[in-house]
Amino acid sequence: MFAVSKETADERVAVRTQALTKVFRGFRAVDSVNLEVREGTVHALVGPNGAGKTTLFNLLTGFLAPTSGTITVFEEDVTGRPPEQIARRGVARSFQITSLFDSMTSREHVELALQGPTRQGFRFWRSEKLLGRNQVRVDELLGQVGLTPLADKPVGLLAYGQKRALELSLALALDPPVMLLDEPTAGMGTEDVDRTIELVRRIAAGRTVVLVDHNMHVVGSLADRVTVLQQGKVLAEGDYDEVRNDERVITAYLGEADHA
Ligand SMILES: Nc1ncnc2c1ncn2[C@@H]1O[C@H](COP(=O)(O)OP(=O)(O)OP(=O)(O)O)[C@@H](O)[C@H]1O
Ligand SMILES: [Mg+2]
Repeated sequence: MFAVSKETADERVAVRTQALTKVFRGFRAVDSVNLEVREGTVHALVGPNGAGKTTLFNLLTGFLAPTSGTITVFEEDVTGRPPEQIARRGVARSFQITSLFDSMTSREHVELALQGPTRQGFRFWRSEKLLGRNQVRVDELLGQVGLTPLADKPVGLLAYGQKRALELSLALALDPPVMLLDEPTAGMGTEDVDRTIELVRRIAAGRTVVLVDHNMHVVGSLADRVTVLQQGKVLAEGDYDEVRNDERVITAYLGEADHA
């Protein structure tokens, strides 16, 4: 058996930023960030509150236009492109919990999400065959996130962790090569956190994941590579152990604890 080294397998760069900068009325929320996310890896972005992580996500998905710098997706320049175009290049983010409809079931949410990328609109009834094919996929997606037993319950009746699982399945419905997850375990208890770690691990099989999370247990369990941001700038980068033992990183987090 040949051992394929991860280095070789992950040579392609999924997402690259060069000198990426976002200025809000004079405030540099993202400041000259050079990021290289290799294909097939889980790449974590960490850093104290206000470090610029979510802003960076908004830039990567086209929800914000950069002030300067460039973004490439699989080496194609997507700088300044609108969200739909970047999504079409394969970059998707997990849906926000606020975008769920309480009266609709999980199954209905996933059905809708599946119609999005195929541009079937609401006219799925036109094709029985397509509907049948979609149902298999719907069941698969609900099963992947452990929602099969709750599939036909109105979402308003689901627990917090279950709603977050549904969000992940909606993002998975797009089957994106690159998935951005912003704090998938925020507000969760230990049990839900561990379940989500397993879930993200499954999601990450065969795709690239960029993950923001404040929970270092989550980052340590999942991340192949970690970039630490502070005040919009890259403070450190490496694997989890390298970054965790970096003096500058320790100081940055201690500083945060002082102000908490
Ligand atoms: N639309 C905006 N207009 C002005 N300032 C903004 C805007 N969005 C973000 N900021 C500022 O940019 C900085 C970075 O915010 P961002 O939300 O990216 O941080 P974060 O690293 O995601 O923090 P957290 O860990 O708390 O989620 C903050 O100081 C924030 O107040
Ligand atoms: Mg944030």
